[in-house]
Amino acid sequence: MKESVQTAFDSISPSAKSLLLTKALTTIPFAKEAAELILSGNIKQFSRENKFTTKLILRLIHFETRYQSIDVALSELNINNILEFSSGYSFRGLKFCKNPEILFIDTDLPQLLEKKELLVRELAKKYCSYPTNNLILQALNVLDETTFIEITEQFPPGPIAIVNEGMLVYLNDKQKLRLCKIIHKILSNRKGYWITADIYIKKDEQSGSLTDIFNESGKEFLIQHNVEENKFKSFQAAEAFFRNNGFKIHKKIEVPPSLVSSRKYLGKIHRSQLESLKNRKKTRETWILGVNF
Ligand SMILES: C[S@@+](CC[C@H](N)C(=O)[O-])C[C@H]1O[C@@H](n2cnc3c(N)ncnc32)[C@H](O)[C@@H]1O
Repeated sequence: MKESVQTAFDSISPSAKSLLLTKALTTIPFAKEAAELILSGNIKQFSRENKFTTKLILRLIHFETRYQSIDVALSELNINNILEFSSGYSFRGLKFCKNPEILFIDTDLPQLLEKKELLVRELAKKYCSYPTNNLILQALNVLDETTFIEITEQFPPGPIAIVNEGMLVYLNDKQKLRLCKIIHKILSNRKGYWITADIYIKKDEQSGSLTDIFNESGKEFLIQHNVEENKFKSFQAAEAFFRNNGFKIHKKIEVPPSLVSSRKYLGKIHRSQLESLKNRKKTRETWILGVNF
């Protein structure tokens, strides 16, 4: 790989890098390949160095289930105009653009997108035997209504699926409200759905340490970004929030366990611990939201 490309990957933010490297231990499309580009071929060493602790295994299952839930929802809707926001180093678009009828617009903040463009170009060149020009990468701050609307105007006629994961927990209530207004306006005009994998609810006292899947640096990151405060109080509260903002739940998504490759690592967890894990409460769901007219 050219030196300039490798240097660009070197400056990828540590948290985004760490999430991608975690996903590289799953079968999420292009995660391993992208991690290999970033680590320039040292992925095997990374896997060896990563101890399969219970926390890591639960983290893998959590992120892989969340990722797959969006694909399951998309396959239910069968919509050809797809916009993903705040996609980070996720390469769903490279998979979906295999279908030439789909136009996939992949967006995130401009500084991240610059690096992602290089990665996507390399991945497409190395691993895609099909045209990828129906995958468009565009900078989007989701709170910028004008740009959001302009981007969606590129879609041909027909409904739009707006999808996201791992983003709402970074927004406070006022920001979430603003985002809802923007998406509601777009979907009211164009028809379609919002698939969000971010129906996270706050921890309760009984949750205990087994719901705690992050290591120390991960926890620090979540504290810095007020993630716990930004979650919904309960699933009912989340439903009320969306209802008050003009959305209704079209469907709650369940991911078949067979789609979650990292479940194979559950065998590494002691049986007694596995038993208590079975009683964990759900702390996240993926919903397909429709617009209430
Ligand atoms: C935790 S990452 C999740 C990335 C990806 N969706 C995933 O699940 O791997 C959060 C993403 O939100 C993006 N982000 C933060 N603020 C944003 C904003 N105002 N508008 C758009 N994206 C934003 C970040 O750049 C980052 O890529």
